[in-house]
Amino acid sequence: MIENFEELKAQVLECQACKLCQTRTNVVFGVGNPHADVMFIGEGPGENEDLQGEPFVGRGGQLLDKMLQHINLSRQENIYIANMVKCRPPKNRDPEKEEVNACIGYLRNQVYLIRPKIIVCLGRVAACSLIDSNFKVTKQHGEFFEKNGVLMMGTFHPASMLRNPMQKPLGLDDFVKLREKMDSLGL
Ligand code: URA
Repeated sequence: MIENFEELKAQVLECQACKLCQTRTNVVFGVGNPHADVMFIGEGPGENEDLQGEPFVGRGGQLLDKMLQHINLSRQENIYIANMVKCRPPKNRDPEKEEVNACIGYLRNQVYLIRPKIIVCLGRVAACSLIDSNFKVTKQHGEFFEKNGVLMMGTFHPASMLRNPMQKPLGLDDFVKLREKMDSLGL
């Protein structure tokens, strides 16, 4: 493991471990407070994220920021946001297994350095990779699972909530549960 956050970032920005490096504009390392108690993990950069080098900056990101604000969290202050893969899969397809495998060490290193108490998986790809390969977002969203001393929760991906507005109140409930969990832990 790399012990220094900036050193890790510098290495990731140069990465050529999978074919996504050939089509990326920017590596999207992550954003937020590296001392955060809560970490959010999405799937991978989309077009806007690839262009700007920051996770969740499109319409989904605006929704995410609004939901975070509702529970007094923000990427500028008290959370960290990263993705399963750091480079955009072309045409926003799901990242392939080899791409996730090539990138997962960077995410592990981020988690190792940030040491979050709670990890929120945004959508199926992150939840199935990090919580349980059979995770069903529609059934298990908002539930907390403990893994290696870290509480993990899966909820709807912001893009999914935009496509299916009925999911929005359910997602917001999950964020409220997150706030309650944080309060109960004194975070
Ligand atoms: N979708 C994701 O999963 N991550 C982003 O950063 C943007 C869109």
